[in-house]
Amino acid sequence: MKNTVVVGAQWGDEGKAKITDLLAQNADVIIRYQGGCNAGHTVVVDNKTFKFHLIPSGILYKNKICIIGPGTVIHPESFEKELNGLIDEGIDISNLKISPLASITMPYHIEIDGYSESNAGKGKIGTTKKGIGPTYTDKYARIGLKIQDLYSAETLSEKLDIILPLKNKQLEKVYGLEPYTKECITALCEKYAELFKPYVCFEWQDLLREHKKDTILFEGAQGVMLDVDYGTYPFVTSSNPIGGGAATGSGFGPRMIDEVIGVSKAYVTRVGEGPFVTELNDETGDKIREIGHEFGVTTGRPRRCGWFDAVIMKYAVLVGGLTSIALTKIDVFDSFDEIKVCTAYKDKRNGQIYTSYPTDVFIHKYLEPVYETHAGWGVDITKIKEYDKLPENAKKYLERLEELLECPISIISVGPDREQTIIK
Ligand code: IMP
Repeated sequence: MKNTVVVGAQWGDEGKAKITDLLAQNADVIIRYQGGCNAGHTVVVDNKTFKFHLIPSGILYKNKICIIGPGTVIHPESFEKELNGLIDEGIDISNLKISPLASITMPYHIEIDGYSESNAGKGKIGTTKKGIGPTYTDKYARIGLKIQDLYSAETLSEKLDIILPLKNKQLEKVYGLEPYTKECITALCEKYAELFKPYVCFEWQDLLREHKKDTILFEGAQGVMLDVDYGTYPFVTSSNPIGGGAATGSGFGPRMIDEVIGVSKAYVTRVGEGPFVTELNDETGDKIREIGHEFGVTTGRPRRCGWFDAVIMKYAVLVGGLTSIALTKIDVFDSFDEIKVCTAYKDKRNGQIYTSYPTDVFIHKYLEPVYETHAGWGVDITKIKEYDKLPENAKKYLERLEELLECPISIISVGPDREQTIIK
C-alpha cells in the first residue's frame, strides 16, 4: 500500500473508520491529523463494536504505531474515558503515541462552546459542544496550551501568566462565566501530565525520521464539507479535514502523501446546522435514517438524510485532493425501487443552474436539487465480495457516479463488517 490519507468527502460520518480500519492492516503507522473528540468512529470486528473518538482505530491491530498528531486537539477527560474503554476490552495500547505539539482542550473551552451555542440564536452551528472551536481559536490566537507545556513547570507558569488574565477577562466580561485561578489550572495540568505521560512521544522528530520509509495511513475526521476553509462556512468544524490537512497536521509533510481516498456514503447525512440542498424531510429521508442507523456516535443526534449530491462530491474531489473514492452504505438502497442523484442545483429565484458548488452558503436556501433517477436492484448485496457479482443496476449506478465525479471508486462497502467490502 502507498501512503494514504483517508478523508471524509461529505459532512462527516461517511464510514471512514471502517475504511481506515481496512487500510490499517497494510500500514505501519496510523496518524490522526486533525479534530478532537468531536469525531465518532465506529469499527465492527467479529461482531464486536468499538467506538473511537480520538485514538486511531488502528490500535485494534497489534504492532501498528498509532499517533495522535500535532494538528489535533485533546480533551484529557474524554481521552481518559476512551483509553480506559479500550483497556477494559483488553486492547493493547502500548503503541499509542501523542505528539507533544497537540493542543489541549481546557474546561473553559467546553464552557465557551456551550455558552456560544446557547446564545448564538440564528448563528447556531450545532457543534458537538466538545470545546473544539474554542480550543482551535486559542491555538490560532497563540494563547493555547500544548501537551509539551505540561512537562515544564517553568514554561507552564510563564504561559499561564499570559493566558489566564486574558482568558479570565473574556470568561467574566464576555461570557459571564467564572474565572480560573492559576493554582486550579496548574493542579489540573499536573493531573493531565500524569495521564498523558506514558504516551507522549518526546522524541517526536526522531519518530518522524524513523518512519519516513514506512507505510503511513493518515486518518482524517469530519469531512471536506466541514473543513474550516472549504466547507459550508460558518457551519463547519474548526480544523482542516481535507487531504492537505494531513500534511500540516501530521508533520510528515506533503511529499509523504501518495493517495487520498475520500469516503462518501451512497447518500448524504449531516448533523448540526447548515445548508443541505438534497436533504429529505419526508418518508424517504426517514427510511434512509432507519435502514442506515443514522444517529450520531458522539452526540446520539438523529442525522439529517438526503440523496447523493454530485455537486458537493465533485467539489470534494477537487479541494479535498481525492485520488479515489470509497463508497459506503450502498446496501442501504437494497430495498429502494428508485435512487436519485443530484447532478446540479437550480436557483428558484432566477432558474440559474449550478453544476459547480456555490461557496456562498447563504444563497443555498434558494437552491433546489436537479435529480436524475436510477432504478434500484432489489436484492440483498451485503454478502457480495466481488464487483462483477454486483447486480447490473448497482454497477450502472456506481459507473454513473464515477463519470459524474471524474474520479474512480476504488472501494465499495456493503455492510459494517471488515469482510463486507469490495475492492475494485
Ligand atoms: P464542532 O466540530 O463540535 O465544533 O462542530 C462543528 C460542526 O461540525 C457541527 O455541525 C457538528 O455537528 C459537526 N461535526 C463535528 N464533528 C463531526 C463528526 O465527527 N461527524 C459529523 N459531524 C461533525
